[in-house]
Amino acid sequence: MKIDIDQQRLNGEIDALAAFSDAEAPAVTRVVFSEQDLRARAWLKERFAEAGLAVREDAVGNTFARWQGTNLDLPAVATGSHVDAIPHAGKYDGVVGVLGGLEAIRALQRAGFRPDRSIELIMFTSEEPTRFGLGCLGSRLMSGILKPFAAAALRDAEGQTLDTVRQQAGFHGSLESVRVAPGTYSGFVELHIEQGPILDQQKREQEKVPLGLVTHIAAPASSQITIEGEGGHAGARLMPGRRDALCAASEIILAVEQAALSTGAIDTVGTVGICRVHPGAVNSIPCRVQLSLDVRDTDAARRDRVQAEIEAAVREIGKRRGVSVNIEVINSDPPAESSPEILTALTTACEAEGIAYRRMVSRAYHDSSFMSRIAPIAMLFIPCRGGVSHRADEYSSPEEIGQGVRVLARTLAMLAGGGRPV
Ligand code: GLV
Ligand code: MN
Ligand code: MN
Repeated sequence: MKIDIDQQRLNGEIDALAAFSDAEAPAVTRVVFSEQDLRARAWLKERFAEAGLAVREDAVGNTFARWQGTNLDLPAVATGSHVDAIPHAGKYDGVVGVLGGLEAIRALQRAGFRPDRSIELIMFTSEEPTRFGLGCLGSRLMSGILKPFAAAALRDAEGQTLDTVRQQAGFHGSLESVRVAPGTYSGFVELHIEQGPILDQQKREQEKVPLGLVTHIAAPASSQITIEGEGGHAGARLMPGRRDALCAASEIILAVEQAALSTGAIDTVGTVGICRVHPGAVNSIPCRVQLSLDVRDTDAARRDRVQAEIEAAVREIGKRRGVSVNIEVINSDPPAESSPEILTALTTACEAEGIAYRRMVSRAYHDSSFMSRIAPIAMLFIPCRGGVSHRADEYSSPEEIGQGVRVLARTLAMLAGGGRPV
């Protein structure tokens, strides 16, 4: 079976989706349940329906577009990703897995393929933690890892709960109903940009595009650190005896960097990405600071040791500087492992398409991390220029995307079973 991708249409769709944004192009900002996110969802549902897929949404806005197979007794095989985008992101993160998944299905339809198992395209709600502070909301709820009562109570920066916001966005029904029983899907394959430099480097060295077959996804953890000191007038209050919360925060940020570097392992990373300073006035000593902390490693035990080291440093800095500190762990997830069967299907598909590939780990987390709790999973990575992601200049070429989509289509066909009617 020859898989033909309509590359022009797919490129056009990626550009069209990028226009649903709260940032000026080329940057994309599309925060979950914002007006732009809702407009993007409506546009996507039209594209899904145009392809003859049956579209349904759950109570948190996860969207399912199903190409019905000939054997309804078999669990479906699924693919998909997310389309929410962090502030000032690019246009490929997540999008390639949703629009690429759609194009893979359309390519199979054009090839005359009839799947035995249904093939379902899933667009997950809020893979990014931007609004509610916790990533992979949709897939966490589907897998049962995030409990409905805990999800409902998550709050955004305005203090609105997820429960209120999702209902205002038109997603009703009980959050309990989002959970999906293990066995519902026979497998889940996610196409995504690598977001790191390995494939791009290999491409430049070997002058051909390789794909990444993801064998493991690193274990992510995130926390919020709150530091309370004493504020006051920046001019009148003398330096001795100050309890400046931002000075303590600065030491903490450097301690995070140090702890992550101290393992000597390339796979350990630690980042403070948010620093909220109160009251945030040029002539006022900061009395309260909130920091976000993101620590990850492919080795969960090593990640936990680094996290503990950071927590000890935070307490020591707090004590020494006379400020109070509080650490709230938001999530501490295990790594995920890919299924050997799906990796074999991906390998076979790469070979059939004559595309180079390598096995690799994903240091970013993905909805696959949580789908792995209820189904066999694997991921397929395409290169992105310079390994750049979560930035407006994120870029994957049409050739790279096209190769990923062709391999995805072939893999879905293999996992679904079926063929062309004679
Ligand atoms: C996902 O966007 C991540 O932060 O890994
Ligand atoms: Mn992302
Ligand atoms: Mn992503």
